[in-house]
Amino acid sequence: VKKGNGIKGLAETGLQNVPKQYIQPLEERMDMQNIVTHEFIPIIDMSKGDDLKVGKAICDAAEKWGFFQVINHGVPIEVLENVKEATNRFFGLPAEEKMKYTPKNSGTLNVRYGTSFVPKAESSLEWKDYLSLFYTSEEEASAFWPKECNEQALEYMKASEVTIGRILDALMKGLNVTDIDAKKSSMLMGSKRINFNYYPKCPNPELTVGVGRHSDISTITVLLQDDIGGLYVRGIDGKGWIHVPPVTDSLVINVGDALQIMSNGRYKSIEHRVVANGSKNRISVPIFVNPKPKDMIGPLPEVLEKGEKPIYRTVLYNEYAKHFFNKAHDGKKTIDFAL
Ligand code: SIN
Ligand code: FE2
Repeated sequence: VKKGNGIKGLAETGLQNVPKQYIQPLEERMDMQNIVTHEFIPIIDMSKGDDLKVGKAICDAAEKWGFFQVINHGVPIEVLENVKEATNRFFGLPAEEKMKYTPKNSGTLNVRYGTSFVPKAESSLEWKDYLSLFYTSEEEASAFWPKECNEQALEYMKASEVTIGRILDALMKGLNVTDIDAKKSSMLMGSKRINFNYYPKCPNPELTVGVGRHSDISTITVLLQDDIGGLYVRGIDGKGWIHVPPVTDSLVINVGDALQIMSNGRYKSIEHRVVANGSKNRISVPIFVNPKPKDMIGPLPEVLEKGEKPIYRTVLYNEYAKHFFNKAHDGKKTIDFAL
């Protein structure tokens, strides 16, 4: 296999069995007996009803499921289609082109092409290629992000700002936070990262994972997925796994650890995973809406107003993120860092 063509290159050799480093221990493989088919992640129509009604649906979903899908969200469908096209364009590049974007070659730590999650820390590797772009400025994005997808990524980030603002506003209202000042705004959405994920079809989907069990460290994540499916989230009370079915033109929204911490546990950052697919390639494009690295995050004063005890301590977000990015995906363990 040519170096630099990732799992995609490996899959395209037509191999019959995955190399042994991709085989997961039994307990990490998806147990199809454990899939919940009678519960569904809510689908919220953001154009139906006033802000109050939509806001309540968002807060309820964030408390109960930690995951929901939005439709009629205001991001033009063409923008979403363009991002998906750009993703396929990037991963379709020759290996030597993609290799320009490894952390070593890209000239910035903010641009990272790679496979799996933290290969040096993982005992079994994930069946996935990715390009991760940390947004600092439009100038940096234009200069350093791959030209095959930079415009589409920027357009998507810009076009989703209003929707992200509406969702965060609603979630804050649900916590009695009505004044989002500069400091709160920074904690909620001071930085962003966009990932392009490519999950090549896999000869042994039952032995592998696309992405292992984890929760996100964002405040919220906005995920665009194609029509293949494979994302599963923990059911209520940690029971079973619920599929997040592809819904045309929707976006999947989930609460991340930063928001679970700020809300003192009210909003749930739910464990999720991606199952590899035996017959099709899958792509997804999450935008991670994060605090700024230098922000201190902890339970918000408004949440503790009535004497509620803080469950979490206040931590420097950059420390929290470092902790996450230095270990393999390990379910919900990252948040213990803030205990
Ligand atoms: C992730 O949660 O890391 C990826 C989600 C997806 O690809 O659906
Ligand atoms: Fe995730």
